[in-house]
Amino acid sequence: MNRNPHVAVVGATGAVGIEMILTLEKRNFPVGKLTLLASARSVGKHLTFRGQTVVVQELTKDSFTGIDIALFSAGGNISKEFAPIAAKAGCVVIDNSSAFRMDDSVPLVVPEVNAADVKNHQGIIANPNCTTAITLLALYPLHQAFEVKRIFASSYQAVSGTGAKAIEELERQVKEVVAGQPVTKEVYPHQIAFNVLPHVDSFLPSGYTKEEMKMENEGRKIMHHPGFRASVTCVRVPVYRAHSVAVSAEFALPITVEGARKVLRNAPGLDVVDNPDAKEYPLPLHVAGNYNCQVGRIRKDCAMDNGLCFWVVGDQLLKGAALNAVQIAEELLK
Ligand SMILES: NC(=O)c1ccc[n+]([C@@H]2O[C@H](COP(=O)([O-])OP(=O)(O)OC[C@H]3O[C@@H](n4cnc5c(N)ncnc54)[C@H](OP(=O)(O)O)[C@@H]3O)[C@@H](O)[C@H]2O)c1
Repeated sequence: MNRNPHVAVVGATGAVGIEMILTLEKRNFPVGKLTLLASARSVGKHLTFRGQTVVVQELTKDSFTGIDIALFSAGGNISKEFAPIAAKAGCVVIDNSSAFRMDDSVPLVVPEVNAADVKNHQGIIANPNCTTAITLLALYPLHQAFEVKRIFASSYQAVSGTGAKAIEELERQVKEVVAGQPVTKEVYPHQIAFNVLPHVDSFLPSGYTKEEMKMENEGRKIMHHPGFRASVTCVRVPVYRAHSVAVSAEFALPITVEGARKVLRNAPGLDVVDNPDAKEYPLPLHVAGNYNCQVGRIRKDCAMDNGLCFWVVGDQLLKGAALNAVQIAEELLK
């Protein structure tokens, strides 16, 4: 791999793409050249990288000549069509969509958990589901110490997880409600302002949504733990940025709160914020914009043997997407 790679961001104008450009800059990733790609709608738009203007180009089949690393965040259909073309052109694709995550030939990587899997790539590396990545930052170190068997979890997912149009929808609906006007809907099936929607992604015959099953399916692959089980309810909440997850986890080995805290304090990419007496616990408003996730509300689960409850919060545009992708790119250069 070129030590100063030519990097492309596919979906550069989107909620994740913008964060990818910022993260490459903030982490001093040794970008030799940056190419920004999006749809025909965005051709000619100007974005800034390291103080220089970069003009957005249209994504085409010929976009990948000479590119070393392509960070994809333009949705599953674009990834399915263009990631194989990019890989064939000799570039390593780091894909944010769900298109290739469960493909056996594609590593699915959270660097704090399974960085070594990056080396097995055949041109495409997948970035995990955002809620799964954030949960695993707390769950995986506990698994290493106490062997997790299963979890029950509920997520509280921010609208920016659905992209730029959903951020606009929450802003617009808040204004409409406050002004006493009828609420208009484009992105979500119901009003999201001043509401919660127990519906993220499409429903499966089992009654779970696809998003809910990602925790078990992707969790097994990332942790190399085929017996891991997860029953999850994913909920969209009127928060702009950062997902929260309430987790009850059952372990094979006895676990104590003190033992868990010790493990979590040493976990990479994670801060323990857990002082309920002082009203200190992780909050999306505090975590938004941070690289590290936060865990708190750590307590014994009163309904399970060897059970622990915790509340983990992470900026899903960063740890769930842009930061994780750039960390994978950093692994490629090691
Ligand atoms: N948002 C999150 O927190 C998050 C977390 C993890 C993973 N992801 C995944 O990341 C991907 C992007 O999400 P997002 O939230 O950034 O969405 P978004 O804000 O809607 O952005 C979509 C991006 O894709 C581009 N695009 C759309 N159609 C295209 C086409 N035909 N050709 C080329 N580019 C096209 C858009 O370009 P234009 O501006 O030109 O339309 C825009 O840059 C999705 O696969 C999503 O599942 C998102």
